[in-house]
Amino acid sequence: MADSEKEFHRTVLLKETIEALNIKKGDVIIDATLGAGGHALEILRLIGERGKLIAFDVDKKAVDDFKKRITENFPELRNRLIPVVDNFKNIKKVVKRLQAEGRIKRDKVNGVLADLGWRIEQVADERYGMSFRKEMPLKMNFSGDDKVLTAEKVVNEWSEEELRNIFQSLGEEREAGRIAKKIVESRQKERIVTTTQLADLITDAKKNRNGRIHPATKVFQALRIVVNAELSNLELFLEGATDVLESEGRLVVISFHSLEDRTVKKFFRAKARGCVCPEELPVCVCGQSNQFIILQKKGVRPSLAELKENPRARSAVLRILKKRK
Ligand SMILES: C[S@@+](CC[C@H](N)C(=O)[O-])C[C@H]1O[C@@H](n2cnc3c(N)ncnc32)[C@H](O)[C@@H]1O
Repeated sequence: MADSEKEFHRTVLLKETIEALNIKKGDVIIDATLGAGGHALEILRLIGERGKLIAFDVDKKAVDDFKKRITENFPELRNRLIPVVDNFKNIKKVVKRLQAEGRIKRDKVNGVLADLGWRIEQVADERYGMSFRKEMPLKMNFSGDDKVLTAEKVVNEWSEEELRNIFQSLGEEREAGRIAKKIVESRQKERIVTTTQLADLITDAKKNRNGRIHPATKVFQALRIVVNAELSNLELFLEGATDVLESEGRLVVISFHSLEDRTVKKFFRAKARGCVCPEELPVCVCGQSNQFIILQKKGVRPSLAELKENPRARSAVLRILKKRK
């Protein structure tokens, strides 16, 4: 993957995502993870002149770059775009605010997309501090904001037990204990401040270093999940997204690792199961009864042709939840 860090982000499952969203002219769609805008550009084209795309990213640079690209290269699409720099966990608040400002007519939308994780430009750029191949400050936050929790703080200040737990549970790292011990020993001598300093420590600590992936991959995944509160934000997002969906609207989520996918699958199943009222209640008050249906139950995966073009897509799974009429 060394060379891929110089590449531009390649949009994953583009055709499948567009099919899943079932876009019609005049629709209001949310792209909750704008990134390099690969899905967003296609959505902007399909919603027509009266449609709106609310495009979120927690990373201001992604939003600014996309706005510039549309203004310069596709000026006819600019009026359809509502750019938002925010965390997708705030989806419901943002939709309400846009309605109050008169930028959208209702507090409901026809489709929501989230293509989770990071884009390749963030890995290559030291402002985000995520690469284990290039020396950079140890940060790992998607917003590139220094004021939030950083991986440097976690690695240097959390206890050995806390580190072992997150490496195990969020990285599914088999040698979590050995790595946590090595980190704690090493930071007593010198603070761990760069990505390569940490990656080298992990490589040294591991007995099994000859796998297909870089020895630091799983620990870096765990730290990214913690720093960006990925799983709790995902749960808040899923709840908010289903609340803002119009009837017949679709929620489409692309995940890249099993913890994300498990969260999405579990949430979709619970929503599609219908009524969640306690059994002792005589009538349904949750309002969820049969409100949602899962489409393509097994999830949609990239075609062989896409995998050949873009090996990073190999772990992608797309899931679709539809709100009934
Ligand atoms: C995989 S990329 C999206 C790629 C995009 N679909 C494309 O085709 O170019 C994920 C993006 O989501 C953003 N992101 C991650 N977590 C977020 C969150 N909680 N709220 C908003 N944006 C988030 C990242 O900054 C990154 O730019």
